[in-house]
Amino acid sequence: MKIKLEFPKNFLWGSGSSANQVEGGIENCDWAEYARMGKLPSVDEFTPDHYHRFKEDFDLAKSLGHNSHRFSIEWARIEPEEGKFDLNEIEHYRKVLLALKDRGITPLVTLWHFTLPLWFSHRGGFEHQNAPAVFARYCAFVADQLKDLCEIVATINEPVVFANNGYIRGFWPPFKKNPFAFMRTVKNLIRGHNLAYTEIKKLAPHLNVGVVKDNIHFTSNKNPFNIILKKFCHWFWNHYFLDRTHKKCDHIGLNYYFHTHFGPSLGFPKNDMGWNIDAEGIYHMLVDLKRYNLPLYVTEAGIPDRTDEKRGGYIKQLVNWTHRAIVDGADIRGFMYWSLTDNYELAHGYTQEFGLIHIDHATRARIIRPSALVYKTICESNALTIE
Ligand code: BGC
Repeated sequence: MKIKLEFPKNFLWGSGSSANQVEGGIENCDWAEYARMGKLPSVDEFTPDHYHRFKEDFDLAKSLGHNSHRFSIEWARIEPEEGKFDLNEIEHYRKVLLALKDRGITPLVTLWHFTLPLWFSHRGGFEHQNAPAVFARYCAFVADQLKDLCEIVATINEPVVFANNGYIRGFWPPFKKNPFAFMRTVKNLIRGHNLAYTEIKKLAPHLNVGVVKDNIHFTSNKNPFNIILKKFCHWFWNHYFLDRTHKKCDHIGLNYYFHTHFGPSLGFPKNDMGWNIDAEGIYHMLVDLKRYNLPLYVTEAGIPDRTDEKRGGYIKQLVNWTHRAIVDGADIRGFMYWSLTDNYELAHGYTQEFGLIHIDHATRARIIRPSALVYKTICESNALTIE
């Protein structure tokens, strides 16, 4: 028997990207500088060149049934020198937003997705005491310039991932392994978000301003030590930031990728990056976020899967569990698969492929993967049909 799981009217279906991962040609941000030093893979080598090809990419998104799209604004383009804003780059992003509007695609705009302008990173990035004010000024400026063309805006993408990878694990800029610097950064990101929210609202009260948070489904076996570890990680990773920012949020965006289990392996299948494939975790994370009483968007969920053997099935499972969370009372307004095209997977360069659309490295040709058509059926029918 077939069952049709219907989604609420006006549900947003789409996919996402971030500026530095798809645009190409950003030379004045910290990631580009470290790439020049050989500490990170080059972005430009195989870039999808979305900066010049956004209309083509949005045509494809439209043809795949998407009615929304998440992307980010590159801070280094907009504010190449402290306090000096480049209106030509604002114009570029206005064109991006107009291209989406022309195609009937609702934008979800992220103001900052990991990369920092050089002047900001050189003086200590988010560790610097002035960082929250400087960040809020940038956010308010952009929101003011774009407020007639968008409604749903997020200040920060994945604050805890940013701080953890840059200041504890040390494999993203600024490559530190220092818990004190980590905590200073997390606290400044909290202040930065709260201040940005206040400043944006002064200039653009109608904007729906939130934050994008990466939450992990932590589980453990019965070992008391593992139970404590699980509870601590859930508290710190999933809630420390949101407990301190949710009052200055009109919505929360959830990025879901991980199930981390403390104890002997549960034997989940793995994706290309060796992460457990567990779609059910998205349900637990969405239901857990009900505590903040805010509208939710799935702003990212996806899988690195070069051969595309697992992606279609995984998307169906993610959507199924998202539906279950709605049935159980989570106020979910949209689902953005990560990502529209293959892109620069951060420290992994172009070795990992998340895209619904494959990008041929030699020609930059866009090649629609079969899983994109599985997702298209869901998007177009606003429903998932299961056997
Ligand atoms: C980030 C993306 C990244 C994706 C897959 C998220 O942490 O927001 O920039 O590409 O996960 O790793």
